[in-house]
Amino acid sequence: MSNVLKDKKIILGVSGGIAAYKACDLVRRLQDEGAEVHVVLTAAAQQFVTPMTFQALSQNAVHTDLFSLTEESQMGHIQLADEADLILIAPASADLIAKLSTGMANDLLTTLVLVTQAPIFLAPAMNVNMWAKPVVQKNIVTLKERGFLIIDPEEGSLACGWEGAGRLPEVKNMISWLQEKLSDSKSQKFMHDSSLKGKKVLINAGPTREFYDPIRFLSNPSTGKMGFALAREAQRRGAQVTLVAGPVDLESPSGVKRIDVVSAQDMLKACEKAFAQTDLFIATAAIADYHFKKVHAQKVKKENKKLQFELEPNPDILKALSKKKKKHQRLVGFAAETQKIKEYAKQKLQEKSLDLIIVNDVSKKEIGFASERNQVTMIDSHGHQKQSSLAHKDQVASEILDYISGLFN
Ligand code: PMT
Repeated sequence: MSNVLKDKKIILGVSGGIAAYKACDLVRRLQDEGAEVHVVLTAAAQQFVTPMTFQALSQNAVHTDLFSLTEESQMGHIQLADEADLILIAPASADLIAKLSTGMANDLLTTLVLVTQAPIFLAPAMNVNMWAKPVVQKNIVTLKERGFLIIDPEEGSLACGWEGAGRLPEVKNMISWLQEKLSDSKSQKFMHDSSLKGKKVLINAGPTREFYDPIRFLSNPSTGKMGFALAREAQRRGAQVTLVAGPVDLESPSGVKRIDVVSAQDMLKACEKAFAQTDLFIATAAIADYHFKKVHAQKVKKENKKLQFELEPNPDILKALSKKKKKHQRLVGFAAETQKIKEYAKQKLQEKSLDLIIVNDVSKKEIGFASERNQVTMIDSHGHQKQSSLAHKDQVASEILDYISGLFN
């Protein structure tokens, strides 16, 4: 276990806090273990420590600026994030933790965190009362659920005069923690996961809209978060991902080909086009089951009488594609159920000739539609079942893809 840090390329992020001085020693101790350390300082960190100190210690250029022309030409920040084996942020301030938990990327360090596919280790350090604040703890939970590895601050007397939890752990303790986590098979897998390398993955996500007139439509509350999380994770595992998205308000995952659609008919066309080149199709989209028989070209005026309209069924995308399925292809459907969860899911598995159905109980407010979190049960065509954790959709996506990887063996 002692040489797991050897030859590792580490980005050491330092944020603003009195404990920033301890990061100087951390650089040396990481180097003693054989690691190559590249330091990134936030603007606040530079109030406590200087780039010059870290440059002298690490013997590498210190990065501070998101928009530095010289740094961009020498080593772009994307390249820095791509080449890193891990990012360690020590100390991680309450402010930085809040930014990371919302996915902000408004300086170099937060951008690297969003770009990288390497594991991210955080060592928070702050005032004891800050650390205890529910909002900080909530941000920590969010980050843990997204896969950040976090070491709790140590207890003791703090620079601000208070006693309690908030101190940056001793450097030797941080080194042991890194070594322990990196030796753990789960972290190793996270670092080198190429379980979907070479696979072409098609994912649909979000709702569809079926227009009645130019300003009114039939839809549902899907946000696309579950599908986007799967797309991000499949891409991270080496897949070539095409994401067909209904109208959602989400950033495209980097490296993923995104096709925006509106109606079920559009979604069918886009999925059909991509399907022949696909090894795996995951249907997370909440497709409207019906569309209006008559679509008005102009806004329908209000009249003081009952409004009646006729709905016609939409095509079933999964069913249509299952008819074209070749032997090497795998088809995975989702089922959004409010009752007889597993029974209805199994029916869909059979009716749509799927390899796997993933069912979520959408009667529960804290999971499913429009929630950050989910919990699903996976039921495959051999009758095997597995329940995921109740966790952030990123984590659930990871557990789903672990299961799906097994479908190719
Ligand atoms: O987008 P989020 O806010 O993150 O929410 C995630 C989610 C709740 C939408 C997602 O987890 C989910 O459950 N997706 C499936 C939603 C759904 O419409 O389920 P269904 O049981 O009605 O459909 C079963 C399967 O058939 C689904 O894979 C669906 O994509 C597919 N289908 C349905 C209708 C249709 N016309 N064509 C289809 O291909």
